Amino acid sequence: MATERTLSIIKPDATKRNLTGKIVAKFEDAGLRVIASKRIHLTAAQAGEFYAEHKERGFYGELVAYMASEPVVVQVLEGEGAIAKNREVMGATDPAQADAGTIRKEFALSKAENSVHGSDSPASAAREIAFFFSGLELVG
Ligand code: PPS
Repeated sequence: MATERTLSIIKPDATKRNLTGKIVAKFEDAGLRVIASKRIHLTAAQAGEFYAEHKERGFYGELVAYMASEPVVVQVLEGEGAIAKNREVMGATDPAQADAGTIRKEFALSKAENSVHGSDSPASAAREIAFFFSGLELVG
């Protein structure tokens, strides 16, 4: 399997509860390497642009306000099949549907406050990594 890079966001509910280290440990235990990382506080405009694909959905305003409510930790994870592997480690969007041992099963509070975001395809990963990081900041 090819080495890939994917964008991960540790969301406000998780940074607020001081879960960053526990979540990163799950990624590292699964063989994913953190090759870029920063803690930022998104503006509503930045969050709105990042989630533009969901603009027409009923929860868009809530999602944008939530993502701008507290700091987040954005990271680039690298590894074999990193995009699928990251989503496996995260678990289903709705924590009630997530498998045991996944981040969302252990830490998420709801479908909105679900602790982590991960790119869902190679095209999304490329867009989302470029949204937050310059090439110089990716240190593999
Ligand atoms: S999926 O897997 O993309 O189909 O999941 P989906 O249900 O479409 O959710 C997409 C993202 O929207 C977030 N979400 C919500 N945010 C706020 N309020 C409500 N009600 C809500 N429902 C879904 C969900 O956490 C997904 O965020 P990301 O960051 O993409 O995982």
